[in-house]
Amino acid sequence: MPLSREIHLVRRPNGAPTPADFALVERSVGDAADGEVLVENLWISVDPAMRPRLNAGQPLDEAMMGMALGRVVQSKLAGLSVGDLVTSRLGCREYFTAKADAVTRLRPDPELPLSVYMHALGMTGFTAYGGLLEIGQLKDGEQVFVSTAGGAVGSIAAQIARLKGCRVVGSTGSEAKAAWLRDVAGLDAVINYKTQPIGEALTAATPQGLDVYFDNVGGDHLDAALTRMNRLGRIPVCGFISGYNGGGAPVSNLFNIIYAGVTIRGFTSLDYLPLRPKFEADMTAWLKAGQIKYQETVREGIAATPGALIGMLAGENSGKMLVKLAD
Ligand SMILES: NC(=O)c1ccc[n+]([C@@H]2O[C@H](COP(=O)([O-])OP(=O)(O)OC[C@H]3O[C@@H](n4cnc5c(N)ncnc54)[C@H](OP(=O)(O)O)[C@@H]3O)[C@@H](O)[C@H]2O)c1
Repeated sequence: MPLSREIHLVRRPNGAPTPADFALVERSVGDAADGEVLVENLWISVDPAMRPRLNAGQPLDEAMMGMALGRVVQSKLAGLSVGDLVTSRLGCREYFTAKADAVTRLRPDPELPLSVYMHALGMTGFTAYGGLLEIGQLKDGEQVFVSTAGGAVGSIAAQIARLKGCRVVGSTGSEAKAAWLRDVAGLDAVINYKTQPIGEALTAATPQGLDVYFDNVGGDHLDAALTRMNRLGRIPVCGFISGYNGGGAPVSNLFNIIYAGVTIRGFTSLDYLPLRPKFEADMTAWLKAGQIKYQETVREGIAATPGALIGMLAGENSGKMLVKLAD
């Protein structure tokens, strides 16, 4: 019967979250009952979607919800054995017991690092893939802008667009991330929105306008992109991170939707689940061939989770923000 530490939300933040909004709590976890497994989490995924849930959706004084990858350490469940790897959405905790419907068996490719299943070959990669190809209806050779291009979703979306022969502009908030996007990911132009006004910089970087804007930011980035959209352009709306802590710039160029006939469509990966097998085959091949590159920012130990979330919202991550709990 292991002791397990977990992260609780103890206070709803006003604006950016602070460490005092969270607590590290120790619990004893029972052995697996009949029909259950006991799982030791190895990796916790730190995602922007956790922030809106701090306002509503995430109960106080309970383990923070979120995605994790773990190893079965006890099994009384047919079909899962000790040592099997599973993903779950049961969140920020070291151990948990669960029935079959709360865990999904992962069969990782032995040639790839396990952690890629937390990003490029996991939820964020699938979000980029389907958001761009299905929701954004990307065509080869188009003009593309991706915001938060240095992050988990954005870095994959931008590289998929490059693989499709598109001209790709990315925006990010640091020189280090901008350099990686230019030199490693091969983007055609990169804007550091913290040192350049996004509107002017995007106009200069998109002489042929935009066919697709993959929006992770909303606010000023969406406003700037709306002025650059070509006829029948598409804006798959993936996230509005500029507003998650409150505030966020207003969007005033909406009339451009009319004149350019732009389609703006929000989505989650539930909108294109049938694409999952094709995504897994494509992404596995791209990763093995080195055609898709990725970065990880890894914090160690369950106690690091609140700081990882706070840091990710402030742009401290290059690529995917992860918390590593065990090998
Ligand atoms: N629709 C879906 O199903 C779905 C699924 C996953 C994620 N998402 C959304 O996709 C977006 C990216 O998620 P992710 O997991 O890949 O996170 P991420 O990009 O890896 O990390 C978040 C990044 O957002 C940037 N950021 C923070 N505040 C900003 C602001 N005010 N303006 C511009 N950029 C800001 C920071 O990078 P900089 O250094 O560049 O500022 C930060 O590193 C989020 O909006 C998220 O909600 C949606």
